[in-house]
Amino acid sequence: MDKKVLAIYYSQSGQLREIMDNFCLPLINDGVSVEKVQITLKNDYPFPWASKDFFSVMPDCILGVPAELESFTLKEHSYDLIVVGYQPWFLSPSIPINSLMLQSSFVQVVKNAPVITITGARNMWVNAFDKVKKLLNEAGANHVGTVALVDRHLNLVSIFTILHWMMDGRKSRYLGFFPKPGVADKDISNTQRFGSLTLPYLKKNEWSGLMEELIRNKAVVPEFHLIFMETKAAMMFKIWARLIVKTKKRKIWLTAFKYYLLIVLFVFAPIVFMIDLMIFKPFLPKYVSAKKRACLKLN
Ligand SMILES: Cc1cc2nc3c(=O)[nH]c(=O)nc-3n(C[C@H](O)[C@H](O)[C@H](O)COP(=O)(O)O)c2cc1C
Repeated sequence: MDKKVLAIYYSQSGQLREIMDNFCLPLINDGVSVEKVQITLKNDYPFPWASKDFFSVMPDCILGVPAELESFTLKEHSYDLIVVGYQPWFLSPSIPINSLMLQSSFVQVVKNAPVITITGARNMWVNAFDKVKKLLNEAGANHVGTVALVDRHLNLVSIFTILHWMMDGRKSRYLGFFPKPGVADKDISNTQRFGSLTLPYLKKNEWSGLMEELIRNKAVVPEFHLIFMETKAAMMFKIWARLIVKTKKRKIWLTAFKYYLLIVLFVFAPIVFMIDLMIFKPFLPKYVSAKKRACLKLN
C-alpha cells in the first residue's frame, strides 16, 4: 500500500513514544510507510523535573506561549494521515506540542490532511483536547479521530504516583506499595487495536465513521467528575497564569499556586467525585451524557 503517514509527538519519559509506536504497528505491518518524528525543544525541559521547574511552566502552558523547537525536516510535503501525539500540561497542550501546532511549516502540512490525535495523560485531558481541536481547526486540518489513554487509578492515587514519576524519573511504584504511575502497560499495547481500526479508513481515504468506531471501542472515555473539575480549574488557572506573568514576585506566586493546586486536588476533587456519584450520576444521567458527548466532538 502506498499510503504515507506522519506520526509526530513529544515525549519526556518515553510513554507517549510507546503509545505512538503501538498505534503505528498495525499500519507498518500492513505496508504503510510511517514516518515517526519525535520533536524536542531547543532548550528542553530536564526530566525528571525539579519541583520549582515543574510548576514554573504553568503560565506558558495556560497562556499558550510557544518555545523554540529544535529544527526538523519532514520527508514529504503532504501525508495521507497525520497522527499527532500530545500530552496535557496543566490542562493545556504541552509547550512543545503547542509550539509545533503554531509553527507555520507544520500548519502547512496539516492543512487539509486527515489528523488523528492521541494523548497519554494522567486523567485530565479534556481541556487540552479542546485547545488542540481549536489549533487543528484554525490550521484547516481534517480532524478525524482521537484516542485518550489515561491512568485508570483513582484520581487521588494518581496524584501521588505521577508526582513520584515526574520528580524521580522512574515509572515505578511509589514507596513500593502504590500502583505504577501513568498509562498501564496493557492499555499501551492495546493501542495497536486503535491502529488496526484506522487501517481500513486509511486504505479507502474515507474517514466518516472512524470517530464513532473509536468511541465504541473505548479509545476515549470521558469521566463527568473530571470534566466538571477541569472546567472549573481551567478558569482558575487562567487567572493565576495572568497574575503570575504580571507580578514581580513570580517565585512567591508560583509557590502559592503550587499549594492552591494541591488543595484543589486533595480537597475539592474528592468532594466533586462524591457529588457526581451521589447526585449527577443517579439523578441527572441525561445531563451527564450530554456533557460527555459534547467533549467528544471533533469540531
Ligand atoms: C508539567 C506537567 C503538567 C502535567 N499536567 C497534566 C494535566 O493537566 N493533566 C493530565 O492528565 N496529565 C498531566 N501531566 C502528565 C502528562 O500529560 C503525561 O502523561 C506525562 O508527563 C507523561 O508523558 P511523556 O510521554 O511526555 O513522558 C503533566 C505532566 C507534566 C510534566
